[in-house]
Amino acid sequence: MRILVTGGAGFIGSNLVHYLLETHADAHVVTLDALTYAGNLANLDGLPDPSRHTFVKGDICSDEDVARAFEGGIDVVFHLAAESHVDRSILDGRAFVMTNVVGTQVLVDHLRRQGQGRFVHVSTDEVYGSLGPTGVFVETTPLDPTSPYSASKTASDLLVLAAVKTHGLDAVVTRCSNNYGPMQFPEKLIPLMICNAMNDEPLPVYGDGKQVRDWIHVRDHCSALDAVRLRGATGEVYNIGGVGGERENIEIVTAILTALDKPESLIRYVEDRPAHDRRYAICSDKTIALGWQGEYDLERGLGETVRWYRDNQAWWEAIKSGAYLQYYEQQYGNRLR
Ligand code: NAD
Ligand code: TYD
Repeated sequence: MRILVTGGAGFIGSNLVHYLLETHADAHVVTLDALTYAGNLANLDGLPDPSRHTFVKGDICSDEDVARAFEGGIDVVFHLAAESHVDRSILDGRAFVMTNVVGTQVLVDHLRRQGQGRFVHVSTDEVYGSLGPTGVFVETTPLDPTSPYSASKTASDLLVLAAVKTHGLDAVVTRCSNNYGPMQFPEKLIPLMICNAMNDEPLPVYGDGKQVRDWIHVRDHCSALDAVRLRGATGEVYNIGGVGGERENIEIVTAILTALDKPESLIRYVEDRPAHDRRYAICSDKTIALGWQGEYDLERGLGETVRWYRDNQAWWEAIKSGAYLQYYEQQYGNRLR
């Protein structure tokens, strides 16, 4: 089985590459990644069997780069490459439209031309917009994105679903809640708070800190993606959420401070994010019906994650110093295709 993972040097993509190589002895994984600021080749260190992995440095918007990744044929595409940070999209949305929308169409076109193969489009619960104090997102909840990030993901979902109808593409769409775990770039809430707390730096909490997210450990997301790949029905959407993972942001921040034995005086309430979604909550029943079950409750997962950042300080210090950006040339020079 030849599997293409786009965005495989990012947070979820790299966890997925590790997961696939660990769980499928017959899998060869090709990673296609442009190594933007969010891509880090160090995330692909320590793969269980590096001979079953090929790294292709390239942009999903480039036909030439995507063609290189498809060389030798691809049975499954897990599409994760994206601009993924809401705050960056508010500052400048253009790269989000290019990668998330145009890039998705380029990949769809290549798979279609190949004539066979399954496309797993990895999307987000943020396409549904914001919930009030009650209720959950189901797959038929109306799409109502509120940021350039979520709007671009919504557009990409619709392009993939249209390709199923127009061209008979064998595609499934997944919409997952907020992920956490090892190798998450320290601009997102949980790793940012852990790294700042470890450095005794202020922890910026947006608005009143009472926004709710439904946290899922990245490993559970990976197993769900594989279940959808294996048993999901073409043209269907599958929601993926955490195991009892709903928490207010301020609860997450204080739990991190407690785990690190740091004072709450590090918390700084700052100006709120514009159009800040108040609450996300996911009904995963349709994915659970495929035989998937999440394994990490938040207490266990958050504890392990705090330990990972404590044990891997060099990983995030290289990001803070910018040294990780030189990793590709140092390690591989021009040896990779
Ligand atoms: P990330 O920002 O950590 O990683 C994105 C990766 O994509 C990086 O390695 C980057 O180099 C690569 N990339 C960006 N533009 C590219 C391009 N034009 N061509 C090739 N590669 C490119 O993101 P993540 O948090 O791992 O998210 C992965 C996917 O999962 C995204 O599609 C995101 O929308 C989705 N998702 C994320 C979450 C979450 O909580 N992080 C939740 C649900 C869904
Ligand atoms: P984030 O990790 O950016 O994910 P998303 O916006 O995709 O849900 O943010 C998670 C929540 O944490 C969100 O409600 C915004 C909030 N937040 C802060 O309060 N402070 C911060 O510094 C960051 C990055 C996020």
